[in-house]
Amino acid sequence: MKNWEGLYAACMSCQNCPLAQTRTNVVFGEGPTNAEVMFIGEGPGEQEDRTGRPFVGRGGQLLDEMLGIMGLDRSRVYIANMVKCRPPGNRDPLAEEQEACIGYLRNQVALLRPKIIVCLGRIAAMKLIRPDFKITREHGQWVEKAGVQMTAIYHPAALLRDLSKRPETFADLKSIREHIQAVCDHTL
Ligand code: URA
Repeated sequence: MKNWEGLYAACMSCQNCPLAQTRTNVVFGEGPTNAEVMFIGEGPGEQEDRTGRPFVGRGGQLLDEMLGIMGLDRSRVYIANMVKCRPPGNRDPLAEEQEACIGYLRNQVALLRPKIIVCLGRIAAMKLIRPDFKITREHGQWVEKAGVQMTAIYHPAALLRDLSKRPETFADLKSIREHIQAVCDHTL
């Protein structure tokens, strides 16, 4: 797909997997198309399915606070998900659903050409960094893939469930802030 408009239109009418039957809205993702930093979550929850926007529920509020710690806000970053339609009951997206959807995300990355990708949680990290990625051991570590600096941090929903993960995440967010300062032109 050569442009954002075409990609958006294709995604909106997607019938590639059974999640199309149960979705209210496709959650394409959002942010400026010149964003240098991209965040990739797992999939829409209830609020996201209702509104068509990524990370607008409780996890989204926490993500906004996390962006603040990184010196960012939503006007400067692109936020997308591994799957664009809500898995019923907020279960993890199935491997075949991720496979059916990954082309949209790859297109988004190709059009955006971010300098930094931050995976939010295990699901995105396993698909985008390494299939055996262990979020508990490897969160906050950096890898370079095709010229893009990539890292993974705990998903906001995991941080809502488990407060003990927050100090480590705070350190990861500071490291991301430093990386942004080192590699981005206009983000900070
Ligand atoms: N969780 C996600 O992974 N993505 C969203 O958009 C909302 C919650």
